[in-house]
Amino acid sequence: MVVRSRVVGCGGYLPARVMSNAELAQRIDTTDEWIVQRTGIRQRHVAAEGELTSDLAYHASRQALERAGVSASEIDLIVLATTTPDETFPATATRVQARLGMTGGAAFDVQAVCTGFIYGLAIADNFIKVGQAKTALVIGAETFTRILDWNDRGTCVLFGDGAGTVVLRAESGQGTVKDRGVLSTHLHSDGREHDLLYVDGGPSSTGTAGHVKMVGKEVFRHAVSKLSSVIDESLEKNALTADAVDWLIPHQANKRIIDSMANRLKLPPEKVVSTVERHANTSAASVPLAMCAAIEDGRIRPGQLLLLEAIGGGLTWGAGLVRY
Ligand code: UT7
Repeated sequence: MVVRSRVVGCGGYLPARVMSNAELAQRIDTTDEWIVQRTGIRQRHVAAEGELTSDLAYHASRQALERAGVSASEIDLIVLATTTPDETFPATATRVQARLGMTGGAAFDVQAVCTGFIYGLAIADNFIKVGQAKTALVIGAETFTRILDWNDRGTCVLFGDGAGTVVLRAESGQGTVKDRGVLSTHLHSDGREHDLLYVDGGPSSTGTAGHVKMVGKEVFRHAVSKLSSVIDESLEKNALTADAVDWLIPHQANKRIIDSMANRLKLPPEKVVSTVERHANTSAASVPLAMCAAIEDGRIRPGQLLLLEAIGGGLTWGAGLVRY
């Protein structure tokens, strides 16, 4: 008997406030033209004062549960990926759990920066496959703008806030059941590359949250090569070729990286979900937000093959193949 984690619902939430490139250009030495040309980003959403990561995650999760027709009491696992938790502890996932009215199950956070959602998906899928969970929320939620140095034009123009949630449900059986759901996940990290992308603070080092530091060009180089290899790995594992992929749902860091992955897979732009223009890089929220956008507007249809990928600080990177 095959057990699969089926995607039965998804939801997304973006804070109301939109910050355009033009607005940024009034504050720092940058231009709309540079940002669009080098990244594809035109705007980002920014959380309001007092609006926390758990608030964003809660709204995305409520929508996902409604769309899935699942009640909060049926959820027995919450895996929340974030780099910007409400507090150092407890896990932001437990705040979402309480707000959803759940009194059972397990809830915890995962830290893999921009790869966090793929890590969360892998964890929840494995819990489901071994029978330790039946219905899980996988959340990517960030108030990433809180850890930006707004005087560093090399990083502050790149990121935004948001949250995306996917509801996974165990399905067991034969025939078509075994073909739908999470087919495989592939996770990697290489701690030697710490200095390329990190935050210069933390509870154990400075006692402050710190700010994002990035060697952009180097991260770009790693992104292109590491994402290519993890995409190959995921296709090979499933004995599939790139032409089987219906949708590439990439991490939304830079349009040039997204285009490079699409070219490699020989996928036309119509088969690539791109939200980077409107959302910028929302770190762990970027993949679920993109996935939800394309499910919501009807582009992604049942039975289609989705290829998810992401790379982030650590370095961490990963991919997942999902039959929707
Ligand atoms: O989510 C985690 C994964 N993160 C990523 O995937 C990010 C990967 N990296 C990138 O997306 C790109 O490297 C960036 C968008 C961050 C930078 O683009 P780039 O083409 O690599 O530019 P660069 O860093 O080499 O900078 C080129 C020039 C520099 O000026 P000089 O030294 O040539 O005079 C920068 O100072 O552009 C300058 N620059 C800017 N100019 C206007 C850097 N940031 C800005 C800016 N506005 N915001």
